[in-house]
Amino acid sequence: MVCLTPAAAALLLLVVVLAAAVSALPAINVTTMAFEDGYAPLFGHGNILRSADHRTVSLLLDRSTGSGFISSSMYQHGFFSASIKLPSDYTAGVVVAFYASNGDVFEKRHDELDFEFLGNIRGKPWRVQTNVYGNGSVGRGREERYVLPFDPTTEFHRYSILWTPAAVAFYVDDVPVREVRQSAAMGGDFPSKPMSVYATVWDASTWATAGGRYRVNYRYGPFVASFTDLALLGCRVDGPIQQTTAERCAAAAEALRASDVAVMTVEKQQAMRRFRERNMVYSYCYDTLRYPAAFPECDVVESERRRFKDTGHLRFALRRRMSPRRSHGRAASRDRVRELKKRAADM
Ligand SMILES: *[C@@H]1O[C@H](CO)[C@@H](O)[C@H](O)[C@H]1NC(C)=O
Ligand SMILES: *[C@@H]1O[C@H](CO)[C@@H](O)[C@H](O)[C@H]1NC(C)=O
Repeated sequence: MVCLTPAAAALLLLVVVLAAAVSALPAINVTTMAFEDGYAPLFGHGNILRSADHRTVSLLLDRSTGSGFISSSMYQHGFFSASIKLPSDYTAGVVVAFYASNGDVFEKRHDELDFEFLGNIRGKPWRVQTNVYGNGSVGRGREERYVLPFDPTTEFHRYSILWTPAAVAFYVDDVPVREVRQSAAMGGDFPSKPMSVYATVWDASTWATAGGRYRVNYRYGPFVASFTDLALLGCRVDGPIQQTTAERCAAAAEALRASDVAVMTVEKQQAMRRFRERNMVYSYCYDTLRYPAAFPECDVVESERRRFKDTGHLRFALRRRMSPRRSHGRAASRDRVRELKKRAADM
């Protein structure tokens, strides 16, 4: 029999209650497909490996090339989802992306919704970035970055992009981690045109890790990102939108808006807030140096604002790592602070 002090017992109860609250979210339940039923190779064909049942696809990055696949159709609104396992070990400079875009159709006014996984040096976690562009709003990056509450390299985790006429939401497993609601003030910055869905792995040595200080090291390659549980729900659009397509897609969008994945329940909102409190390390909404004028969709939470510097980077990550116990002597400490600042700026 283990005896607990009242404080420990209360803490344990809290942990159990929190765990129960998290697991109370309904599991995302969507029909998954074989690779060929929704996707086709895009580039680096020799580096795309399929499982025997064609339901799992691995994308490789080696010295010769990265690789990627693209949905066979474009979608006007939808729910795009995949379970992904990221490359492990030393992955600096490696970027794995799962995203929707129409950049090759609308060059100057493209829409895009991104999950970008940014590799890191050994012992440092992958960071995940989400971004939203509408009608070519590339001068207004709406990035957010998070660390994940699990190791994304040991098991598959589901990442999903929801896009309805009313809102965009990003999910990690069953938890919504970000929601951008459409508003008149956002105007064309809210994605509105049909998009293809992509998955890619590529060499982003010039910027992905510490602003390009750590490049891809191919001695650790090939870097393998695996995708399974592929789901593409939405209104397929193959060609210019005609009247009939518009009506069909409007009906599909209404159904999507009413579906479980799109309805933002109180439980989901709470889970989203918790995830963001614990895991968000950068938000454009708090980056007043880069964006002095607030974005219309930013719901600036005062308690959250205090945790971020005016660069949009989390204060706490810096402070925690700068604990005095770890520094030896003033000069060393100064060097370390400089290094930590650089590193934090990169988070
Ligand atoms: C998932 O959805 C399918 C069909 O939409 C349904 O038959 C099934 O019962 C659902 N599973 C769960 C666990 O809700
Ligand atoms: C998208 O951009 C184009 C040109 O940049 C502009 O003419 C158009 O009005 C914009 N659309 C929306 C919905 O804002």
